[in-house]
Amino acid sequence: MSNIFLLIAFTSFIFALLLTRQSQDFSRKIIRNSLGLHDKKQSHLHFYFHDIVSGRNPTAVRVASAAITNTSSTYFGAIVMMDDPLTEGPEPSSKQVGRAQGIYASASLSELAFLMVLNYAFTEGEYNGSTLSILGRNPPLAAMREMPVLGGTGVFRFARGYAQAQTHSIDYNTGDAVVEYNVYVHH
Ligand SMILES: *[C@@H]1O[C@H](CO)[C@@H](O)[C@H](O)[C@H]1NC(C)=O
Ligand SMILES: *[C@@H]1O[C@H](CO)[C@@H](O)[C@H](O)[C@H]1NC(C)=O
Repeated sequence: MSNIFLLIAFTSFIFALLLTRQSQDFSRKIIRNSLGLHDKKQSHLHFYFHDIVSGRNPTAVRVASAAITNTSSTYFGAIVMMDDPLTEGPEPSSKQVGRAQGIYASASLSELAFLMVLNYAFTEGEYNGSTLSILGRNPPLAAMREMPVLGGTGVFRFARGYAQAQTHSIDYNTGDAVVEYNVYVHH
């Protein structure tokens, strides 16, 4: 009997030793500067998002829906893939600063509310090539919507923050919309 306990104790000891060794190899502490990152910054980005669903060159297209989507008052289950331009000003001809690439999906049975899963892919100036990742809830009929910024790449490594959206204009015939965004990030 005691031999079995001895065996169990010995096996646990070896296992613990292996785990310790593994975690030593798996991670180590580093200082922020060694990654070329220095002081934390706060940035405020301001741009307009153009959601073009109509015409010959839409930038947002429905890619899936449920059996109830078309009879649902909230389009529940509709999934839309977007590659929407982001511009400095509200006019479509305004200078482009990036694209909003990702998905919005109708996720509420009781009111129009989208699950937003997207990356802002910036193309302008010091932000060119950097991205911010957004995951949040967007009820588009609300005056102000807020979505978390969960992370980023390039100049936005370690980003955390939030994006506030306000509809600038909407064409109720076509569904095309321009949305003003204010994005606040620590990075
Ligand atoms: C629902 O409506 C969309 C847009 O009008 C249409 O493309 C789609 O075929 C419809 N789906 C069904 C199942 O009727
Ligand atoms: C952004 O970066 C890409 C790839 O490096 C480059 O081709 C493009 O000219 C840059 N755009 C601007 C506006 O700097």
